[in-house]
Amino acid sequence: MAKVLVTYDMFREGFTELEARYEVTFPEGRDFTYEEVREKISEYDVLCPMFNFPVNKELIDAAPNLKLVANYAVGYNNIDVAYCLEKGITVANTPGPVIAPTANLALGLMLDVARRITECDRKLRREGENMKVDISQLLGLGITGKTLGIIGMGNIGKALAKRANACGMDVLYHNRRRLYIDEEADLNVTYVSKEELLAESDFVSLNAPYTLETYHIIGEAELKQMKPSAILINTARGPLVDEKALVQALKEGSIHGAGLDVFEFGDHPLPELLELENVVLTTHLGTQTLETRIIMAQAVCNNVIGFLEGDRPVSRVLRP
Ligand code: GLV
Repeated sequence: MAKVLVTYDMFREGFTELEARYEVTFPEGRDFTYEEVREKISEYDVLCPMFNFPVNKELIDAAPNLKLVANYAVGYNNIDVAYCLEKGITVANTPGPVIAPTANLALGLMLDVARRITECDRKLRREGENMKVDISQLLGLGITGKTLGIIGMGNIGKALAKRANACGMDVLYHNRRRLYIDEEADLNVTYVSKEELLAESDFVSLNAPYTLETYHIIGEAELKQMKPSAILINTARGPLVDEKALVQALKEGSIHGAGLDVFEFGDHPLPELLELENVVLTTHLGTQTLETRIIMAQAVCNNVIGFLEGDRPVSRVLRP
């Protein structure tokens, strides 16, 4: 019987089909550390890591029986995919369930920063009865009639474009590959260069995977090309943004604000970001709803069972 190692501690709804068929090891009460997984991995056929768990050469070399890495995420920058493929190990991801919740969070952050929702909440809690409430205070920016620029027009970018259209926004996009003309027309989006997108957009949302090409896709030069009234949203991966340059741009007012769900240096933002009122910070919540956690687990199980039994499709990652 195939042996499956899950690195993260999570409620078991979503894993029942897998547990009924295979010997599945979960950590108890906390995630397995990297060292614990490296110690155990030699016995396992399948590894199910979370998006922040590194599956590197050292781990793969310690796993002579490993046949499948079934990531709990659409992104797979935590995995050395080239090395897995070289070793004949299949890599799978979970693209479907993440689309709507991540696009919803991106829209939520746009609204939050623009309309100063969290900022108002913070102020009210801080100042209580003393807070001056008047109609010319905490003036926000509207989103209707404004332009959203989406960098990375995959499934999440497209879902965000639909939401932005519904809010009466114009949508520009930049992507490695341009969409077919009929899909652009269906989505009501316009392809532009990155420079044009940065110069024209009131909101810039990052929805691209983290690769060598997208590392610091927003740095000092790009922040300077954005409008002083622009808001940057990142629900993709932290290293897409040069966070030090972003702090500088926000302090200088060369952009208006930012909504960040991911950070360049791990789970936490640079401390200076915590001091800025024009920033809303969340802790990689893109897919963090109860129902999404369960359907992502089911998607991981479908990948594992489909791979081992061939009875259903597997969402394979075909290249790094
Ligand atoms: C979440 O970040 C994912 O890649 O699914």
